[in-house]
Amino acid sequence: MERTIAPSMLSADFGHLERDTQMIDRSAARWIHIDVMDGVFVPNISFGFPVLKAIRRASKKFLDVHLMIVEPEKYVARFAEAGADLVTFHYEASAEPHATVELIRAAGAKVGVSIKPATPVEVLRELLPEVDLVLVMSVEPGFGGQSFIPSSLEKIAQLRAMVREAGLGTIIEVDGGISSRNAAEVFAAGADVLVAGNAVFGAPDPEAEIVRMLEAR
Ligand code: DX5
Ligand code: ZN
Repeated sequence: MERTIAPSMLSADFGHLERDTQMIDRSAARWIHIDVMDGVFVPNISFGFPVLKAIRRASKKFLDVHLMIVEPEKYVARFAEAGADLVTFHYEASAEPHATVELIRAAGAKVGVSIKPATPVEVLRELLPEVDLVLVMSVEPGFGGQSFIPSSLEKIAQLRAMVREAGLGTIIEVDGGISSRNAAEVFAAGADVLVAGNAVFGAPDPEAEIVRMLEAR
């Protein structure tokens, strides 16, 4: 898959959500990453359906929704209805991952599954043929602005090898602590999509930072 940047709206200015969404819409980023946190799966609370709908109204980009919530099966269909193009749930949060996958598909969205830093990629071997994307967390989920965990590079490479050996086209996305300083090595390890919150919205020129990440060599 073509290199893709997914700016995380968690780092946007919520007082100017439409402005920040339109800024990303003009940029070279092809996706928008939307972090939903419930205060239970992660020690933080972000936002839910109304905010996703507002972003959907303001954007033509591919909306990549990352659910950091317990019992995701209860809500995945509503996120698809609210405008998600892709719904990603956490492997650790779902008692019945296969059923959760089916609920997302039935609602008409693409399916992603995510693993936290301590979860080995091996747990995904059986589920891999059923999903469109795997999201490798390169920080502990819950907050923007943390440092990239270096051992994530090895996990990305292992996942890339697993996808290749299985003859699949699974998209590999990486989330946490990514900027134009480390984008080249994360892409080189096997990532297709890089999420970036602080690096984009904290940059003096966010659109230029997105281009620097895309072109990082
Ligand atoms: C963290 C979220 C991330 C976060 C990334 O739990 O899943 O998407 O917004 O932020 P940065 O790029 O600042 O690490
Ligand atoms: Zn995320």
